[in-house]
Amino acid sequence: MNRTVCKRLFVSTLFVVVALVVVAARAQNSPQAATSAAGAGQNSAPSAAKTASQQFKNMQILKDVPADQIIPAMQFISASLGVECEYCHVEKAFDKDDKKPKVTARKMMEMMFNINRENFEDHREVTCFTCHQGGAHPASIPAVGLQERLPEMTKDAASSEAAKPWAESLLDKYLAAVGGAGAVKRVTSRVEKGSLTGLGDQTVAIEIFAKAPDKRISVVHMKEGESVTAYNGKVGWLSVPRRVHMMNAAESAGACLDADMEFAMHVKTLYPKWTTMPGEKIDDHETWLVVGRKEGTPPLKLYFDQNSNLLLRMVRYTDSPLGYNPTQIDYADYRDAGGVKIPYRWTISRPGNKFTVQVEQVEQNVPVDDAKFVPPPPPAAPPAH
Ligand code: HEC
Ligand code: HEC
Repeated sequence: MNRTVCKRLFVSTLFVVVALVVVAARAQNSPQAATSAAGAGQNSAPSAAKTASQQFKNMQILKDVPADQIIPAMQFISASLGVECEYCHVEKAFDKDDKKPKVTARKMMEMMFNINRENFEDHREVTCFTCHQGGAHPASIPAVGLQERLPEMTKDAASSEAAKPWAESLLDKYLAAVGGAGAVKRVTSRVEKGSLTGLGDQTVAIEIFAKAPDKRISVVHMKEGESVTAYNGKVGWLSVPRRVHMMNAAESAGACLDADMEFAMHVKTLYPKWTTMPGEKIDDHETWLVVGRKEGTPPLKLYFDQNSNLLLRMVRYTDSPLGYNPTQIDYADYRDAGGVKIPYRWTISRPGNKFTVQVEQVEQNVPVDDAKFVPPPPPAAPPAH
């Protein structure tokens, strides 16, 4: 995977570790799967060429999609219905069809594909979430006295058409606000230490090592051991003790955005088309929402402070066979670090989870050993028979 690919989509970070690494590894109990994980680990290309039915035992609908897209599809389903994996799966036996909701979910996938084929020229307009909206049992009757409405994006966007600044000029102002290209380029490594809250009720220590142009590893010191999220310029991975999950191409692309130390300089070149509209208020700050688009990839949404021009929020999406999985990162507590403004606090939110990192100490242009960015060996192969 090269840097052009890297400049596209997204998703990254830690949390997925807990839910996903464990599960992905559990799903790979067979010796055959363990070997394939080993292969993926040595290869620089993160995406396995295997199809889902080659890797998993009981695929009937999603059988021809790449195997590394099954877990993202499962995350999408879980988020759409607001349920855990166990709602449909028997523990440690994901292939079994013992639970009724799993069987129903297959029919629902076919229904969804049919609705889109027959009504929307095969565009994925309707997804599980369209009906389920975060619940297992979709509502079919309008609620009484419901005040909440969908965001009024169209109205706002239309009424302020004249006053809207150009997206490109907002991106330029953002670069200037963080210190300008010269200052950004002068920082070639960054080591941050701080704390993380939101995963369980403890506050835990986190260390982040970044090296230009695009290597980054964050290490969370959990009670159970280290939890790692990393991207080494080619491929990303997540790990918890004895478990490693190599990111697929879309996940790596997200990790790459986080790792890009010159993001403020590069952002404009990542998408061919940018648009602006008024964004929602974030912590009392008025924002502009700048959206990057590129045919065939999910959009990137950036919210800039109308006063400081700093980036307050990024929303990005990782595609899956059933729909987009969203990640939102809110940036705050910007401070000067050697001529560059960087956020000392950020909150990463995904459906069903959220955590905040507060940086306490930053060192820049210190040596960071390349050995840190070598993916860990794949889990030990099962004993030979
Ligand atoms: C609403 C039901 C539902 C939920 C929730 C769900 N799954 Fe699935 N899962 C399915 C269905 C249906 C299939 C089979 C798809 C097919 O036949 O193409 C499947 C297949 C799988 C497989 C392949 C198993 C095999 O070997 O055949 C794995 C692994 C898996 N799911 C993991 C997960 C994980 C991890 C989660 C939680 C993040 C999850 N699933 C949540 C319905 C669900
Ligand atoms: C067009 C609307 C629609 C779409 C799209 C849709 N569903 Fe459903 N789904 C329903 C309705 C309606 C029910 C029945 C609700 C009830 O039992 O109260 C249902 C029921 C289910 C159930 C059974 C819940 C239970 O515990 O009884 C599962 C599981 C489910 N859907 C999964 C999915 C998945 C996965 C997708 C996407 C692949 C999906 N649905 C897409 C409308 C939809």
